Amino acid sequence: MASHSAILGVGGGIAAYKAAELARELMERGFEINVVMTAAAQEFVRPLTFAALTGRKVVTEMFGAGSAEDVLASSVEHIRVAQQNRVLVVAPATADLLARFAHGLANDFLTTLYLAFEGPVVLAPAMNTAMWRHPATQENVKTLAGRGHFIIPPDEGPLACGTSGPGRLPEPARIAAYLERLVTRRHDLDGETILVTAGPTREPLDPVRFITNRSSGKMGYAMAEAAAQRGAKVVLVSGPVQIAAPEGVEVVPVQTAAEMRAAVLQHLPECGMVIKTAAVADYHLAQIPKQKVKKTAMRLSLELDPTPDILAEVGREIERLNSGQLLIGFAAETENVVAEAKRKLQAKKCDMVVANNVAGDATGFEVDENEVTLVTRAKETIELGRATKRVLADKILDEALKLRLALHKDR
Ligand code: CTP
Repeated sequence: MASHSAILGVGGGIAAYKAAELARELMERGFEINVVMTAAAQEFVRPLTFAALTGRKVVTEMFGAGSAEDVLASSVEHIRVAQQNRVLVVAPATADLLARFAHGLANDFLTTLYLAFEGPVVLAPAMNTAMWRHPATQENVKTLAGRGHFIIPPDEGPLACGTSGPGRLPEPARIAAYLERLVTRRHDLDGETILVTAGPTREPLDPVRFITNRSSGKMGYAMAEAAAQRGAKVVLVSGPVQIAAPEGVEVVPVQTAAEMRAAVLQHLPECGMVIKTAAVADYHLAQIPKQKVKKTAMRLSLELDPTPDILAEVGREIERLNSGQLLIGFAAETENVVAEAKRKLQAKKCDMVVANNVAGDATGFEVDENEVTLVTRAKETIELGRATKRVLADKILDEALKLRLALHKDR
């Protein structure tokens, strides 16, 4: 069983009692738990409950009482606790705590500890639905997610205030399983920044119509999630999709190929690896009518111009700057899959192209599974076979890291 030490920060909300169960769940999974309670949390649950459960002292205040030495010792306690623990989990994270974390306020032990803590931070918000939905809270959550923290969104259901909606603290067993996954994950992308593009682009034809590609964004979101879980800072440039952002990933929403190009070029310099999963529309209407185009009985022809090939442009840019960034493209094909992937590898100056056959129904678009073959600059062809997109994402990253070593592309 794993032995990891975790700080469990308990905020002052009705769900504070569930934190006791979370402490027990975590201990069953081999965690050593150090509980820190805010003053408000102590109004809901007594520190003794946690002390009895964990067998450890519970931190309840910033400056302990007693002699000057005692006060001095407790005034640096937050640094010691921060350094000795692997992960910080805050459950329930109240609206007030999220705000104080987001703004770097340090007016009690937990918020001071948060600033001193350099490891992964997991936040499980719980509050009344209106408070959760309030733009101030949502802004704070966005800030915290953008900082690379892991947010476990609240569940929906009946709340203590008599209303119903999102706001409930997820089941402690689920939070505990999440933490277990986090601390046992691989760390081979720690300190890296990775750019991922995902989803389709939308090219307007008039104010109410657009052309687009079939793409759910699932493969790109799986790539982003896998990279983030392995320690990377991930910038996910995403076209319009119906899926939630993976935890700890910064999403840059875009609509058109031109917007995607601008976002990619803006973030390119800071990224060591670029993964272009997006299904970019190949054509667009250069002059978009300001008003809705009216139906007539006549045949309608559209004259479309090609969109910029973002992948090819990034390939040229990396070559020009000799920047050592690893470039991975995708190729969705219905025939000659490997041959087409090899052609795109060369034409777009990629290090790897992930080819998938989208001719069938079970793999490819809008489904959870894919079947892919990798072709690389090192002239390898690697069959990854059929698996879920999330499993394939890790395998693609494994091969990308091996390839980077082989090509001496470390930067
Ligand atoms: N791509 C891009 N910009 C475009 C078109 C494609 O960056 N305007 C990228 C995609 O993100 C993907 C790769 O190029 O990583 C291959 O996309 P695909 O649509 O398969 O290739 P195309 O070059 O458009 O070729 P074709 O449509 O003829 O197969």
